[in-house]
Amino acid sequence: MVDHSFADLSLAAFYDSLNPWGPGDDFYLGLVIGARSVLDIGCGTGQLLRRARAQGHRGRLMGLDPAAAMLVQARRECGDVEWVLGDTRVRRWDREFDLVVMTGHAFQELVRDEEILVCLRAVRAALGDGGRFVFETRNPGARAWERWTPERVYEITGADGTPVRVWHEVRGDGLAQGLVRFTENFEGDGWTAPRVSHGVLRFLDAETLEGFLTEAGLAVVEQYGDWGRGPLTPAGPEIITVARRA
Ligand SMILES: C[S@@+](CC[C@H](N)C(=O)[O-])C[C@H]1O[C@@H](n2cnc3c(N)ncnc32)[C@H](O)[C@@H]1O
Repeated sequence: MVDHSFADLSLAAFYDSLNPWGPGDDFYLGLVIGARSVLDIGCGTGQLLRRARAQGHRGRLMGLDPAAAMLVQARRECGDVEWVLGDTRVRRWDREFDLVVMTGHAFQELVRDEEILVCLRAVRAALGDGGRFVFETRNPGARAWERWTPERVYEITGADGTPVRVWHEVRGDGLAQGLVRFTENFEGDGWTAPRVSHGVLRFLDAETLEGFLTEAGLAVVEQYGDWGRGPLTPAGPEIITVARRA
């Protein structure tokens, strides 16, 4: 599932229904439960940290996201986490976290080289001794955007109990210069017109990704191609990376 309705309060309310808990969340939850302090960059509605708190995590949990509408959802569900509005430029963390994560393909929201490097340098500064940065990005070899077509309609239920249909549409020719541009479309019974949210995601191959990590002073420790911790493969769905300070 691809989702890009972060900026709009009423559309952000659909996020958790559109992105139910999955194997990726289980993968991260295990890591979060085992870490004393966790920074979740691009935390969205905060599903991961909320679940960790509910399961008894007692340490420091911080969720960072530049979309106020997403943090409204997070705060509504759980006040017992530090929810911070902004991106990695809003604060400088100094070796404070055992674990930094970027989940739900939040890393692909970083579109320009400079954005990626600013984020990775902030992550490096935030990691305590032995700390790990764990995140995933969709493998461009799997060509996920080819399945983001209007024929695939997801039906969810709005707050008033009425059905809402959601579909995606890629703009242009798919992957162009490492980017995929798309729309996310919402249509509800009785709405005068569908509501459309625009998104851009960057797709990096493993080699280019490693180049960015190295430039930011981070080193790859482990890499997986799927949530079962299988190896990277040319057309596997994910590039899941565990990195630490170089
Ligand atoms: C697909 S959502 C993932 C949310 C959450 N991590 C999850 O797994 O459900 C991507 C999130 O990244 C956030 N985001 C966009 N640009 C960002 C940036 N430059 N730095 C950090 N987060 C960003 C969006 O606001 C959005 O909440």
